[in-house]
Amino acid sequence: MKKSLLIKNGIVVTASDKYNADIYIEDEKVHTIGKNLNFSADKTINAEGMYLFPGGIDPHTHMELPFMGTYASDTFESGTLAGLYGGTTTIIDFAIQTQGESLKKALDLWHKKADGNAVSDYAFHMGVTDFNKNTQKEIKDICEKDGISSFKVFMAYKGVLMVDDRQIIGLMKEAGKYGAIVISHCENGDLIDELISEAKTKGDLSPRYHYLTHPEIAEAEATGRIIDMAYDGGHPLYIVHLTCEGALNQVREATKRNQKINVETCIQYLLLDESLYESPDFEGSKWVMSPPLRKEKDRVALWNGINQGLLHTVATDHCPFCMDQKKMGLNDFSKIPNGMPGIEHRMELLFSEGVLKNKISLNKFVELTSTNAARIFGMFPKKGTIAPGSDADIVIFDPNINHTISVKTHHHNCDYSAFEGWKVNGKCKTVILRGTPVVEDDQALIGKGFGKYIKRSSHNKEYSKEMELSKIKV
Ligand code: URP
Ligand code: ZN
Ligand code: ZN
Repeated sequence: MKKSLLIKNGIVVTASDKYNADIYIEDEKVHTIGKNLNFSADKTINAEGMYLFPGGIDPHTHMELPFMGTYASDTFESGTLAGLYGGTTTIIDFAIQTQGESLKKALDLWHKKADGNAVSDYAFHMGVTDFNKNTQKEIKDICEKDGISSFKVFMAYKGVLMVDDRQIIGLMKEAGKYGAIVISHCENGDLIDELISEAKTKGDLSPRYHYLTHPEIAEAEATGRIIDMAYDGGHPLYIVHLTCEGALNQVREATKRNQKINVETCIQYLLLDESLYESPDFEGSKWVMSPPLRKEKDRVALWNGINQGLLHTVATDHCPFCMDQKKMGLNDFSKIPNGMPGIEHRMELLFSEGVLKNKISLNKFVELTSTNAARIFGMFPKKGTIAPGSDADIVIFDPNINHTISVKTHHHNCDYSAFEGWKVNGKCKTVILRGTPVVEDDQALIGKGFGKYIKRSSHNKEYSKEMELSKIKV
């Protein structure tokens, strides 16, 4: 017997449309969208006055990441469940190679952590920290057999994750053969290393020095450099967690030669700023992440960049560490594990602070939270939209429920909230993943292992055409 669900009287919002309709779901997929549908279904939900958004896709998470001598505190089970409470039905996590080891080894390890544990759907980007003759040979199978069409490089974290430019160029060429995209953490790792050692020599050791040793110029320089490498080879590029005006201007500059760069920012860079690093009693460590929070002028630039079409996704870079873990850097900011929690609040915060404060439209909200990630990373239209044949990943969103974010109520496995006390208007009331209501009125209805691994293709054909156009040099 096929499982079915009927959602009545909702306001369907996609990246391009907004209309009142019913949605009939059968066998995990959207079957029919229309007015006054009278299918008989196993369950009917009345969504009058509610928005129906495509399930969120967070294209940047780090569950259980081994990092800086410890592990990110959310497992695939706890982190994806937290995501579901906040409307994120699919994540793309990073399977990160250990330098000196194979890509396959990292991928196997990430499958071991996620398979049978993740509660939401999940996919992987492959993090390449050591591109050499051996890893080069692994790229084809990873694309064609493992369903991974994005390869990440770090231009920072020297000695652990950082690669040099030669490796980036090699990876771009190899990944390009299989229609895959290179994605990048853009910061000049050498400059940052030098600034950190200067600060330590002077005895400047508090969390604020994390901010001061990761300046805007380090991000802007690396952003411009990798954009040039991509342009030279005619390769597609996705920049993760862009935070500042200087880096955004590098993206803007590239458009003048008709280069299209795909760019992500994160919810924290849109809403928080560097004044938090002044917080007393080591509190500033809660927001130690790379790149760091920036200035007010950067937040303004990012919101404008969204509406200028320069930024395409809003992710979280969800990488939580509890306070005991943060305290590894109590006497030395460079030992504070980098990262913060956020997956549960990305969509509600962006709705409340973006849509309701007239910074972005409802359609833009959908683009940023799901559609663009699905398109860029080869999951569209299975994910990222509400259309017949698509996975029935739907958020029934009540714009009239107000709530306050707190560590007391969140589902992150983290003993603080980076958004403690933020008042949010609008709530994910019911979250549906492949036709099954998975969260309803703050209650999880499913558990461990409900999530499926999503194999991804290279960019869809329409998208490839855009990339072809962006390769034409003037
Ligand atoms: O501080 C951060 N962002 N931690 C996670 C690793 C990364 O750079 O994305
Ligand atoms: Zn990063
Ligand atoms: Zn990250």
